[in-house]
Amino acid sequence: MEYRHIPVLLAEVTQQLSLHDGSIIVDCTLGGAGHAKRVAQLIAPTGILVGIDQDDAALAAAADTLPLGQHVVLLKGNFGDLDRLLAEASIPYVDGFLFDLGVSSPQLDVAGRGFTYQEDVPLDMRMDSSSSQLTAADIINTYSEQDLTRVIREYGEERWASRIAAFIVAARGRHQVTTTGELVELIKNAIPAAARRTGPHPARRTFQALRMEVNHELDVLEHGLRSAIKWLSPGGRIVVISYHSLEDGVVKRVFAEESVGCICPPDMPICRCGQEPVLRLITRKPVVPTAEEIEGNQRARSARLRVAEKQKAQ
Ligand SMILES: C[S@@+](CC[C@H](N)C(=O)[O-])C[C@H]1O[C@@H](n2cnc3c(N)ncnc32)[C@H](O)[C@@H]1O
Repeated sequence: MEYRHIPVLLAEVTQQLSLHDGSIIVDCTLGGAGHAKRVAQLIAPTGILVGIDQDDAALAAAADTLPLGQHVVLLKGNFGDLDRLLAEASIPYVDGFLFDLGVSSPQLDVAGRGFTYQEDVPLDMRMDSSSSQLTAADIINTYSEQDLTRVIREYGEERWASRIAAFIVAARGRHQVTTTGELVELIKNAIPAAARRTGPHPARRTFQALRMEVNHELDVLEHGLRSAIKWLSPGGRIVVISYHSLEDGVVKRVFAEESVGCICPPDMPICRCGQEPVLRLITRKPVVPTAEEIEGNQRARSARLRVAEKQKAQ
């Protein structure tokens, strides 16, 4: 199957990574290599591109697009395991990291993956289908009503979270909820008709929440960013594109924490903490796509790009 995904903020990403021949760049969310292909061209002939993805279909698509060899290396894995992945691949240091978070268009569009509310398929939602993590069906059928409410409210920002959770718990008392179609029906029944008439598909927020819970997306993001900062060479940059306010919040917080210097009380005459900032913020406000880009690619509409640079030695 053709892997169709339009890279978001492509020009901004390549410009912010300040690419040159010889750079070592890690794309932690390779997908169909939309960004990575351009990056590989801009760091050739001596640069090294490392592409990571946890999804076999993405890796296969990227392998068809990229000139694999000594200078382009693909790794299957979760960027939450960045330390292990980079050490095993004998990468000495990294000049630039890209995180283009979330799911790709094909993951959403291929019904069998269970991310879509448009078709009736098994509720899965694992980005790595070979992993042993809980599927969306496991979560729906085993979490307490309170935990379901929390997940749907927090990650989906869904105001009807507690009603949806109550409907799920009542339904699973009769029989297990195992397909996307069954869940969509429950959500539609739980949300009052008047509230369903406007806005996005009524299941969109709950599906997004489940996907984030299944893949532990926020925890893994924080872990991945902290590791990436350690691997960066002085002057190297991290570029992150997020599509959800909670993800953007994690990026903003981690960048802010790592760019703080002395934390001694203001009345302390000399610094005793010795803390030096590790990062320098390049974007104080996130970069967003132009109206023209959103017109051509609806999936870009919620994108927010943030950049930070590793401090050079003082
Ligand atoms: C938005 S897509 C990236 C698209 C890519 N930049 C392109 O232009 O083709 C996100 C990709 O990251 C992968 N991904 C998401 N979270 C991941 C994680 N924690 N570890 C590894 N891969 C992840 C997904 O499987 C998906 O293929």
